[in-house]
Amino acid sequence: MRQILYISVSTAPAGKADLAAILEQSRHNNAIDGVTGLLWSDGTHFMQVIEGPATSVEATFGRIILDSRHRDVETLHDRPIEARGFGSWSMILKRAGDPVDVYDAKMRRLLSNASDGISERFRRLIATSAADARD
Ligand SMILES: Cc1cc2nc3c(=O)[nH]c(=O)nc-3n(C[C@H](O)[C@H](O)[C@H](O)COP(=O)(O)O)c2cc1C
Repeated sequence: MRQILYISVSTAPAGKADLAAILEQSRHNNAIDGVTGLLWSDGTHFMQVIEGPATSVEATFGRIILDSRHRDVETLHDRPIEARGFGSWSMILKRAGDPVDVYDAKMRRLLSNASDGISERFRRLIATSAADARD
């Protein structure tokens, strides 16, 4: 199996990304393709993990890259995995301030390899860092 983590910027007006439409399409396709993962968004930025059979992940990411609803797609990780790390949901949506769950720590670990600018920007999307900031 293969796992890809990328970040991108919505082309919709700030905060107005149509997450419902993206999710509906993603869940439909991913359920058929055996692809799973998480999509983080604040309505302006995206951060997504997709995982599953290597050929399905490659095809899915190939379509995602070409999608005009976002730009500046930057791959942070692309690696073979033994088992899924982010559950069996066809695509979970997480928004800034959502309750902390088991995936937040995993996400922070994956992001710890990214450059300071990237991890700073995207840590804000992850609930655990929102909690840290309030302390
Ligand atoms: C941020 C973002 C995340 C997306 N995630 C997925 C995804 O996980 N799976 C998927 O099939 N399409 C995803 N899409 C949509 C694809 O880019 C593409 O529009 C879609 O797969 C085309 O499917 P269709 O031919 O069935 O309409 C995403 C799009 C965006 C902007």
